Amino acid sequence: MTDSSSTEIKFSNGQKIPVELHKVRMVQKLYLKPVEERLDAIEKGGYNTFLLDTRNVFLDMLTDSGTNAMSDNQVSSMLHADDAYAGSQSFYRMETAVREVFGKKYLLPVHQGRAAENIISQAFIRPGDVIPMNYHFTTTKAHMELNGGEILEIFTDEALKLKSDFPFKGNIDIDKLKATIEKHGKEHIPFVRMEASTNLIGGQPFSIQNMREVRKVADQYGILVVLDASLIGENVWLVKKREEEFRNVSVGEILATMCGLADIVYFSSRKVSSSRGGGICTNSKELYLKMRDLVVLFEGFTTYGGISVREIEAMAVGLYETTDETVISQSPSFIEYAVNELDRLGVPVVTPAGALGCHINAMEFLDHVPQSEYPAGALAAALYIVSGIRGMERGTISSVRDADGNDVLADVELLRLAFPRRVFTLSQTMFVVDRVNWLYQNRELVGGLEFTDEPAVLRFFNGRLKPTSDWPQKLVARFKQDFGESL
Ligand code: F0G
Repeated sequence: MTDSSSTEIKFSNGQKIPVELHKVRMVQKLYLKPVEERLDAIEKGGYNTFLLDTRNVFLDMLTDSGTNAMSDNQVSSMLHADDAYAGSQSFYRMETAVREVFGKKYLLPVHQGRAAENIISQAFIRPGDVIPMNYHFTTTKAHMELNGGEILEIFTDEALKLKSDFPFKGNIDIDKLKATIEKHGKEHIPFVRMEASTNLIGGQPFSIQNMREVRKVADQYGILVVLDASLIGENVWLVKKREEEFRNVSVGEILATMCGLADIVYFSSRKVSSSRGGGICTNSKELYLKMRDLVVLFEGFTTYGGISVREIEAMAVGLYETTDETVISQSPSFIEYAVNELDRLGVPVVTPAGALGCHINAMEFLDHVPQSEYPAGALAAALYIVSGIRGMERGTISSVRDADGNDVLADVELLRLAFPRRVFTLSQTMFVVDRVNWLYQNRELVGGLEFTDEPAVLRFFNGRLKPTSDWPQKLVARFKQDFGESL
């Protein structure tokens, strides 16, 4: 490995500190508002961090979706976009990138990841079908269920152990996969879905070995394998770091190996290549044709798919950059730093560090808040109040209600602090660690939340809540005691 191939550079005192292997050439001013204004902002936002205005947010760690930093090459590529409704050269450049990076011949562009899920679900899922997967993502589940499918999560026993040193918590349990197929019959299983860097359980990767085994079982029964590659770069990086066989293999080769094991690869370009849009790709003309006309119906013509051609150019460059270690290692190495520091301080975080963000175990952090009062949502609101950091609830608020109107309690209650690629500096990361730790020391002050306005579909986006007591005011009072007039 050359000295500039990843963000892991050794310091002379032996410390492992991630170093930015890029320079910042364009910046955006941030605002850290006083604590009373933050309390006011979260109240106005119904204690839902999705409903905060970025003018009131200091570090926006809601998501990496559409917020990764673009490279100079991506931005400049947008200038030579070929504006055309049909047959745009920009599309053909993207098609070439998909062929060279993912190893797939046919590309259907779509406006974002969930649009790909809509097309795939409509094309392949029929009422009564079941779809085995390592873990669901919110929009994936919603689209599959809309088409009459049922998702079956067949993760390994390690997956939900939040504190663990198991390197591949995103693996599928192969025995459970076989049992699922035997039970439901292959005719009711349109495909098996593998999600790279399994989002909702803490950005945890699967191994290539596991995907090979999934492929083998799928072949045995004649079932398709679909890969959600929205977070593929980070999964590839973690394979390189954790899977012996791939230690000296280039990330480009690992990426191609992974995609080669899937019949259909789809992605949110908002995540994978730091621009907008998304895509579905395959080497099978038959599969391509099953989806093509749905793209025309729901997205746009097949050479723009609802995305501006400028974004298509940036997407293509971004895909090539996914094979650059300095690009894809940046977010996981900053996450690893934050996770290890918080772990050392005794704060309950998901280990080992994964992709996408630092995930805090809210059920343990706020073990006095019952799950019915949404500890992950309460923690997200509390952290915002004491720091201006905006994280995302990934727990029961992101779940649904059953037919009787009861909350389906989430397997895990996580507060996700996303690290969009090449956006935050190390001192900002240290601020995150400091404020999370302060909140942990004062955690007994944080109480629960209840809904005041609850949308029927994907309620976490626009739902409004209120605190179950005056705990936010007490938290602000303690903050001012400790920090005085400091922000
Ligand atoms: N699949 C995965 C694994 C995702 O993480 C996402 C989005 C999607 C599909 C849907 O893509 O947003 O472009 O429609 N994840 C974002 C997040 C929203 O914040 O984790 P999209």
